[in-house]
Amino acid sequence: MTYRTHHCNALRSEHSGTEATLCGWVASRRDHGGLIFIDLRDREGITQVVFRPEENPDAAKKSHELRSEDVIRVTGKVAPRLAGTENSKLATGAIELVASALDILNAAEVLPFQLDDKVSNEDLRLTYRYLDLRRENMARNLRLRHRVVKTMRDVMDSEGFLEIETPILSKSTPEGARDFLVPSRLTPGAFYALPQAPQQYKQLLMVAGVEKYFQIARCFRDEDLRADRQPEFTQLDVEASFTTQDEILALMEKVIAAVFRESKGIEIPTPFPRLTYKDAMNRYGSDKPDTRFGMEITDLGDVFRDTQFKVFRGALDSGGVVKAINAKGLACITTGQIENLTELAKQAGAKGLAFIKVENGEWKSPIVKFFTDAEKAALTERLAIKEGDLILFGADKWETACETLGRVRLRVAEMLGTLKDSTALNFLWVVDFPLLAWNEEEQKWNAVHHPFTRPCAEDLPLLEAGEYGKIRAVAYDVVLNGVEIGGGSLRIHESDLQSKMFSILGVDAEKQQLLFGHILKAFQFGAPPHGGIALGLDRLVMLIAGEESIRDVIAFPKNNRGVEMMTQSPAEADFKQLRELYIQSTAKKQP
Ligand code: AMO
Ligand code: AMP
Repeated sequence: MTYRTHHCNALRSEHSGTEATLCGWVASRRDHGGLIFIDLRDREGITQVVFRPEENPDAAKKSHELRSEDVIRVTGKVAPRLAGTENSKLATGAIELVASALDILNAAEVLPFQLDDKVSNEDLRLTYRYLDLRRENMARNLRLRHRVVKTMRDVMDSEGFLEIETPILSKSTPEGARDFLVPSRLTPGAFYALPQAPQQYKQLLMVAGVEKYFQIARCFRDEDLRADRQPEFTQLDVEASFTTQDEILALMEKVIAAVFRESKGIEIPTPFPRLTYKDAMNRYGSDKPDTRFGMEITDLGDVFRDTQFKVFRGALDSGGVVKAINAKGLACITTGQIENLTELAKQAGAKGLAFIKVENGEWKSPIVKFFTDAEKAALTERLAIKEGDLILFGADKWETACETLGRVRLRVAEMLGTLKDSTALNFLWVVDFPLLAWNEEEQKWNAVHHPFTRPCAEDLPLLEAGEYGKIRAVAYDVVLNGVEIGGGSLRIHESDLQSKMFSILGVDAEKQQLLFGHILKAFQFGAPPHGGIALGLDRLVMLIAGEESIRDVIAFPKNNRGVEMMTQSPAEADFKQLRELYIQSTAKKQP
């Protein structure tokens, strides 16, 4: 016996007159004066089933009991639909199944939400995720994700990469987030860390002589959640020996192009454009620039070299910059909107957001009174200022001014609806990242990518000279429409250089042995030059699917409070379990 002869997207006109058995869910039921029609749905599609009392009274009688989402099995004869009742939107829309037998395999209660409604309460969707995933677009996203992963595996395999699993119960590896810890029962008081990325293991596989590794790797990071961040997420993780930056970039372009070809039928032009970190910041105010629109940032340092305006004067005198963007057509902005933009600028670290509105041939602005005619003329020319424009200024340290205008630029594009109908796919590489960044709060140097990243060979003298802020890394990010979808670097493979890097990052010799002794040791036994990258699978699938949140491309995601609503995890552990783990909670009980 087989359950069914066809799935619900299989029957066509040429099957007319034959018998078929279908299984699935009742997507809808319509009663046309005793004649019952149902749309029967399975994962492949929908077929209309009709119950005719005069032909099959038993089945027809039973069909009156059917409710939405009941699971049924129907046998019947395929028949062409009556002329004029065909549904051209359905692949099976030319036929219907005239039911002769009906089994109700499992009846369904009334659902907490309708599958064809837009449900705005995401927690409700996540609580009943198994129902949410029955919706057409969610089911489509799961399939898309499968297709993307399959393509990645195929390309990596054809390029000679081996898929190797690395431990989930592992040791802390710094990627800039907090670790999730797992207490060990067998070693009281000790903890495993869940991997923030398989970074050290994949490098150790290079020392092992694997040469080409990849993994569809689950990563865990305890950080603040956003629409494009989950505490557990998936990477296409890659590492190779005896390779160059150019080779790694070309390999990833091949993977990404194949993914878009297989999942969307779109040809992505390669190679992707490359921007240095400096240029990306200078022109777009971001290390993940959205280049689907212009509105580039203009440097005005020379224009205001002798300015009397104290805000600009102060920035320039203290080694900072004055920059601006021209938000064309936004002179109509309201005072409230200017205040919102200023608030955004302040969140980026700016002290304010000077502006000029060009309305009725006049420059409306609290600051133009400080400008000379020459400065005004130079501004007009440099920013191509026209009637209706809004000019927004950043005067600060280079990084703050760039970042501020970068964020303002994105918000302004949103206000103008610049990207509303855009179907552009703007890929690019950001290269030549700085190796280290000074952390003002902690008064220490941090790795911009991670501590295993290789300094640029030409910049090694700067390392010797202690000019850490100026050293470039052989590190690269791949960006799609302003979203960072991947990042990687060539690595340090010399034990002494790695140790020096840890020292610069404030890890003393004793701590180095404790935390990283294994990798420092491994580098002493013939570690090949190597490098790699990781693509954020969830983000990539989100962008392909046209979704705004990675939660929509993950089967069972956590909500923005880190809770998996369906199973209600995390949950309290009972006393006995904790005692076995030598753990006691200090959390105060919620009243
Ligand atoms: P990185 O930390 O840049 O590099 O991560 C690589 C890519 O993973 C994605 N990503 C995330 N996606 C969803 N939720 C998150 N919380 C999250 N965090 C990161 C991003 C990012 O570009 N080991 C290095 C790679 C290497 O050097 O080879 C690493 O993990 O798309
Ligand atoms: P103030 O003299 O501080 O009142 O500032 C005059 C104008 O300059 C106001 O519109 C401020 O928003 C703006 N402003 C202040 N600091 C900055 C800055 N660092 N960058 C750009 N504009 C600023």
